[in-house]
Amino acid sequence: MPDHSLVISNATVIDGTGRARYSADVAVHGERIVAIGKLDPASARQHLDATGLVLAPGFIDAHTHDDRLVLSSPDMLPKLSQGVTSVVAGNCGVSLAPLTGIDPPPPLNLLGDREWYRFASVAAYMDEVARTRPGVNIALLCGHSTLRTGAMDRLDRAATAEEIARMGERLDRALDEGCIGLSTGLAYPPAFNAPTEEVIALAARSAAHGGLYVTHMRDEKEGLLDSVRETLRIGREAALPVVISHHKCSGRPNWGMSRESLKLIAQARKQQSVNLDVYPYTASSTVLIADWVPSAEKVLVTWSKPHPEHNGRDLADVCAQWGVDSDEACARLSPAGAIYFQMDDADLERIMAFEDAMIGSDGLPHDEVPHPRLWGTFPRVLGHYSREKKLFELEEAVRRMTGIAAGVFGFSDRGILREGAYADLVLFDPERVIDSATFANPKQIAPGIERVWVNGVESYVAGKVTGQRAGRVLRRELRAP
Ligand code: ZN
Ligand code: CU
Repeated sequence: MPDHSLVISNATVIDGTGRARYSADVAVHGERIVAIGKLDPASARQHLDATGLVLAPGFIDAHTHDDRLVLSSPDMLPKLSQGVTSVVAGNCGVSLAPLTGIDPPPPLNLLGDREWYRFASVAAYMDEVARTRPGVNIALLCGHSTLRTGAMDRLDRAATAEEIARMGERLDRALDEGCIGLSTGLAYPPAFNAPTEEVIALAARSAAHGGLYVTHMRDEKEGLLDSVRETLRIGREAALPVVISHHKCSGRPNWGMSRESLKLIAQARKQQSVNLDVYPYTASSTVLIADWVPSAEKVLVTWSKPHPEHNGRDLADVCAQWGVDSDEACARLSPAGAIYFQMDDADLERIMAFEDAMIGSDGLPHDEVPHPRLWGTFPRVLGHYSREKKLFELEEAVRRMTGIAAGVFGFSDRGILREGAYADLVLFDPERVIDSATFANPKQIAPGIERVWVNGVESYVAGKVTGQRAGRVLRRELRAP
């Protein structure tokens, strides 16, 4: 009788810790990695020869908006096809739960319409995820804008003490039911008028549950440094680890500011827990907001409810065709989504190479013509930034996609390839892996990602999902140091 369900032999193992690659055979039994070394292929029901291929821990997408995708397209092809086996959802202040009975204002509408906001509790949402069993593991943050929308009659002001108490109770319950922390989107209209003190009060609830504070900061343009300081203050006063989402410097006058922002963060890291995630592109994407257009070099329409015929088009061309200015065009197109070309590659590379930076796609899975980060983020870091531009070694690229995130989010026995860990694995060709998704043609499977296993289950092979879905809800587990 075979001892193992699978033996992968002659693999180049990159284990997620940053340690140098080594050659080994790896055995999986059930959901775990059970042996690494020189192994007999006959000891397993399935045997694979991985000569020339890298075997790494499945990638952790540190920043996603997959709350609904795991229910509406549980195959999770955009993620599995990149080697991603776990996603952190509920970012930027927006989570699908707990909230019901509203027409979601932007950016909550990025996840779906009223019909999708139907989970009164995180427990109800988690139950549906468990029943659906998506193709990847998912952890959920509880969104501040989601809480505000559920607790306030209008969002253009500070919450009252009573409203903070109501949000706090819902947040407590969300954390009890499995959320790993609080996220905010302070740059967006539903949260922009929330004072720092409101956020500190709620972040303290997250701290009491051992949770995180994850933030799309108030300002990623000229006010970037003040926003970093605000974030650090929230972390200190609420006494919890903070994660700065999709760190960037937006708008040409602010290019180069990452030198200062990273200096602030590096300094703070000596006293408090601070991390950041970043996606490997110089264009951002979110809802279309007229005020955000002037600071971008170029804007593409990713979706428009009233004018779907303009999906994928340059906003300047739409303005020219209509003979209107961009304010008027935005008003006519909205509700809508957009891609904003507004960052500089030097900042991007500096941020990606920063100590312990995590890779997060920030992909928007329901956009009609999505930003290519949805399908290309991880292969782009491996192929373009590591192999071609030599920004860091492959071992370091993998660590930024696995071990660091597992440590920050508290996913124990994941993000590392060792005996006893969960068999979340990706087998890829280090010479061929590259992103093929482009702005013009964004829904493209990356070459070079050969096979992916989630909890020991073969989930993706050569461009196709296997149809066996093995994802689970992940909780934050804190190990004693
Ligand atoms: Zn964001
Ligand atoms: Cu986001």
